[in-house]
Amino acid sequence: MISPKLYKSSRFYDFFIKALGYESSIDRFLRSLTLECGDECRVLDAGCGTGLLGLHFLQRFPNSRLHATDLEPNFLQATLTNAESQGVDRERISVGVANISQPHITTCLEGNTTQLEEGSFDVICIGAVVGYADDIEVALQQLVRLLAPGGYLINIEMNESPSGQYVSRRFHYQNIKLHRMCEVLTEAGCQVEARRFKARHLPAKLTRTGIVARRTAAS
Ligand SMILES: C[S@@+](CC[C@H](N)C(=O)[O-])C[C@H]1O[C@@H](n2cnc3c(N)ncnc32)[C@H](O)[C@@H]1O
Repeated sequence: MISPKLYKSSRFYDFFIKALGYESSIDRFLRSLTLECGDECRVLDAGCGTGLLGLHFLQRFPNSRLHATDLEPNFLQATLTNAESQGVDRERISVGVANISQPHITTCLEGNTTQLEEGSFDVICIGAVVGYADDIEVALQQLVRLLAPGGYLINIEMNESPSGQYVSRRFHYQNIKLHRMCEVLTEAGCQVEARRFKARHLPAKLTRTGIVARRTAAS
């Protein structure tokens, strides 16, 4: 049985996603995406968990910087620990507590709250988190506002397969239909592409799918 307590402990979560091969299969999927980003891109990982998405982009774009947020400070600490074990320069990462319902408001671990500026990120990655927002559609719109024109919102979302739905229910994760999510992102000014995981992205393929939304220059 999968326990919802898994999310309460960043250590357990980190152990499971690594041991089950989730982290490496999501990494393979991310590597399959072609992104037109400069080396110095600014990345936001919202609901970062143990940081697997944001740290992928830090490794991929050598002069990029990451702001990682999560509701739970222990996950922020886990992200910093994983970054250190990957040899990432600490100067390239900042972390903050933020609720995905208001992804632009972030409080650093020392307690200062700041508002992230609109248009200030080239890549925003989220994974299995937007379903925890009070209003998923509003949260998506707010995330798009944080994107620079031409920037990407990459959502490694829970999929609609029986296994995806089972895990979502176990973790009290609210799903909106993926086609509705694509509509919301399109209405917010993005070009949207749904990218299914393939067999080579097992085991993440069992529960996740990819949505890549690029903010149009004019929006
Ligand atoms: C399934 S994990 C996903 C972690 C990572 N993004 C991934 O793709 O593997 C969900 C994460 O969302 C965080 N979370 C839950 N509710 C949240 C909320 N309302 N706002 C921000 N983060 C939240 C949890 O603490 C956990 O780290």
